[in-house]
Amino acid sequence: MRAAAFTDLIGPDGVDVIELDRPDPGPGEAVVDVEACSINHHDLWILEGASAMVDPTDLPFVSGLDVAGVVRAVGEGVTGVEAGDRVLLCPNETCGTCQFCREGPENLCASYSLYHGGLAEAARVAADRLVPLPDGVDATTAAALPTAYLTAYHMLRRAAVEPGDRLFVPGATGGVGVAAIQLADLRGVRTIGTSSSASKLDAVADLGADHTVQGTDPDALREAVDDIGTPDAVINHLGGDYTGLGLDVMRRGGRMVVCGRTAGPTSEIDIANLFRGHKRVIGSTMGTQTDLERLVDLVAAGDLDPLIDRTFPLSETGAAFERMADRETLGKLVVTME
Ligand SMILES: NC(=O)c1ccc[n+]([C@@H]2O[C@H](COP(=O)([O-])OP(=O)(O)OC[C@H]3O[C@@H](n4cnc5c(N)ncnc54)[C@H](OP(=O)(O)O)[C@@H]3O)[C@@H](O)[C@H]2O)c1
Ligand SMILES: [Zn+2]
Repeated sequence: MRAAAFTDLIGPDGVDVIELDRPDPGPGEAVVDVEACSINHHDLWILEGASAMVDPTDLPFVSGLDVAGVVRAVGEGVTGVEAGDRVLLCPNETCGTCQFCREGPENLCASYSLYHGGLAEAARVAADRLVPLPDGVDATTAAALPTAYLTAYHMLRRAAVEPGDRLFVPGATGGVGVAAIQLADLRGVRTIGTSSSASKLDAVADLGADHTVQGTDPDALREAVDDIGTPDAVINHLGGDYTGLGLDVMRRGGRMVVCGRTAGPTSEIDIANLFRGHKRVIGSTMGTQTDLERLVDLVAAGDLDPLIDRTFPLSETGAAFERMADRETLGKLVVTME
């Protein structure tokens, strides 16, 4: 089978289509014929050599978390899933025995890790991580959900936003950002989104953002948000200077949920602002399989339509990563099998 593997951790030029043996399912596993796999900034970090999860000794490395397709075969002991089922993978890898696996939420598992391997024609996965796909949800749409929408969904819950609240989403044009805008809009939450690109923001406004602000300078953004109104909460997937900005603009008692570091791995914050304002900064990673099932239900019911920027055939996976690295993406990029 073909796989779009990372053969060098140098950015998009390090992706090559290689031949690998088709996997067989072991006990408790399934092999899925992949129809679509979306890519995330997480994969790009790996490809750029900026992730602690993968180093040059792991090459060639097949990344790709967000797998949708059809089950080809299941291994010993698998129940509830069979060959021919249309499925979406929840990429959570958990121990199944720690306190968080027993009592929830599973994404706090002490040994939490992520599935990788979807950028290939077939993927060997844990069968109990497969979510059934209803007929009305196509593989490309489904593949957009697991990482970006699941993360945004969980972050919104942690932000405890209520209908009518105001939410600030710096970087509202990528995977997590667009997902946060759409899911907040569904809950009746008013949103303020930012981007460096005016044209991308026009599209985000069409998706339901109540206010958009173009720019990247924290001082200018602070002023613009102050003019619009005080956010109750912030969804922060950018880190860097955006953490201090989020803390500055949100109301007393506000919540900022952080899941990423695209704009920088460290942030300086005004400690007095934090404690005098009774503000909360909350870390968050991914979500639960039950959350993913709810997202699939929302799509099936016609309430959520994930924004797909473009699809790329497997052979052009490198070009998809180039588009992400160049900040041209609006929503999700999905790799499909020819
Ligand atoms: N912890 C978790 O579970 C989890 C899950 C998913 C994602 N993440 C993290 O969340 C982040 C977003 O992931 P994603 O897949 O949504 O990425 P993405 O699609 O590449 O995000 C693109 C967004 O980031 C903005 N952006 C890109 N580079 C920037 C920079 N240098 N400064 C300011 N804004 C910048 C873009 O703004 P423009 O429109 O201006 O280009 C756009 O709004 C990543 O850091 C990722 O690792 C974490
Ligand atoms: Zn566990």
